[in-house]
Amino acid sequence: MHVIDSGGDNPPLVLLHAFPVDSRMWTAAGDPLAERFRVITPDQRGLGATPLDEGGRVPPPDLSVVARDVIGLLDELELDRVVLGGLSMGGYVAMALLAAAPHRVAGLVLADTRAAADGPEQRATRQAVAERAETADTMDWLADSMLPNVLGATTRSDRRELVTAVRGLIMGQPPEGVAWAQRAMAARPDNSALVRATEVPTLVVVGEEDTLTPPATARELADAMPHADLTVLPSAGHLSALEVPDSFAATLLGWWARSSGGASGYGHME
Ligand code: MLT
Repeated sequence: MHVIDSGGDNPPLVLLHAFPVDSRMWTAAGDPLAERFRVITPDQRGLGATPLDEGGRVPPPDLSVVARDVIGLLDELELDRVVLGGLSMGGYVAMALLAAAPHRVAGLVLADTRAAADGPEQRATRQAVAERAETADTMDWLADSMLPNVLGATTRSDRRELVTAVRGLIMGQPPEGVAWAQRAMAARPDNSALVRATEVPTLVVVGEEDTLTPPATARELADAMPHADLTVLPSAGHLSALEVPDSFAATLLGWWARSSGGASGYGHME
């Protein structure tokens, strides 16, 4: 996996990115977070600079494959437990990791995401997007269709340079990775029972202008979880961590300081 690792002795925080972008969506939030955490941001299989195949073999599309990739990364970095965060698709992967290896998760950040699986209509749309990605010459159409959904109204009207940067991130994604991710998301299970049974401290965070996973969805998720705090970030849409990185980072740092009592006793393997 291609990974950006701030390094150092701080307690580890792994952040998993959204679709259809890569770990660069965490760059701005990563700076303030790195004052307190060792920030580790991998590119998901098939996106950014992480290849889709393993020695020429492409596994069937499944987010639990991605969760296993992340667990492999933790093993490689000799990290026993981490604070695990994911935004949207990254949140789906975080839940898949929690299902596979709950003992590796010291705290959970679920941003702009949901526990429910797709319905038949959403699965059909994802299949159509996957097929188009495999046949289209450019990714303009993907950027055109995603930008109004993934960025909030405030960003689209007031932060034109960010709109251009996110367009660039989307356009640069490998088509076969986009198709694989769509099929993997379509196949994901319902995680409602999993989140209800999750005992680790959890931060649910959402952009106030998120129309894909709106604040009402985030509230439902937080209410279902035994130890979840909810924060709604003003002036942000679906890609909240990228749109308001300083507020996102301050929220995460404040939540972890309260939840952990300042403890940093997790991380490296004995
Ligand atoms: C994302 O931002 O990762 C996607 O909107 C997730 C999805 O398509 O369900």
